[in-house]
Amino acid sequence: MSFRIIVATDYQEMCRKAANIISAQVILNPESVLGLATGSTPLGIYRQLIDWCKKGDVDFSQVKTANLDEYRGIGPENDQSYAYYMFENFFKSINVNPGNTHIPDGKNPNAQEECRRYDELLRSLGGIDLQLLGIGQNGHIGFNEPSDIFEKGTHCVDLTQNTIEANSRFFASIDEVPKQAYTMGIQTIMMADKVLLAANGKAKAEILYQSFYGPVTPKVPASILQMHRDVTVVADEEALAVIKQKGYLSRSL
Ligand code: F6R
Repeated sequence: MSFRIIVATDYQEMCRKAANIISAQVILNPESVLGLATGSTPLGIYRQLIDWCKKGDVDFSQVKTANLDEYRGIGPENDQSYAYYMFENFFKSINVNPGNTHIPDGKNPNAQEECRRYDELLRSLGGIDLQLLGIGQNGHIGFNEPSDIFEKGTHCVDLTQNTIEANSRFFASIDEVPKQAYTMGIQTIMMADKVLLAANGKAKAEILYQSFYGPVTPKVPASILQMHRDVTVVADEEALAVIKQKGYLSRSL
């Protein structure tokens, strides 16, 4: 296994450490292609990066970004879309060139065409240098839900009830939560040079343990990361509680 775990005392420290890794990547290679995620976990990471960008400590002017996923059926004008989230929570406050930011087009009704387009785009960018991931309580990464197989490239998924319910907190009612999404596949994610997985809170503790110390299985999509050659997990103490309890953390929390 070739992953490293970076322990943070709390959410804020987790965000600072993850932001440090992303900014180091951009400083070392100003033309980096960053794979980005949405959800609640990265919000503080983006806030930290905005702060450093405003101070002139990190420069996104030549960076390219590619997001993991987008709901099918909604576009950037919808405040629930991931395109809207990225603009509001990150892109509008940093010096990235908007033309260099990429997200699957939720408004393209032709799923096959959109998935092919996104895969070709990722190839044309030369692949992802650093992929930021959150993790779902069921082990999903991007919208790769538990399944019998590891899906390869970008594809259209039916979201599980579990995920629809978890996402409903962002919508006025559960009926408004989109039921499908476009997502990078497991192969797309595995092809990133480096993976940075961020997790916080006790709701992630059991799945973090299963993902990194359990069997590699598509029933726990994040478990495939055990096969990646460069994974960094940045997590707070609550999220690491089960891993610690099973005796896998040398440093005492
Ligand atoms: C979103 C994404 C998802 C989230 C996951 C965790 O782009 O890829 O896999 O990372 O659902 O979400 P939060 O951070 O809200 O717990």
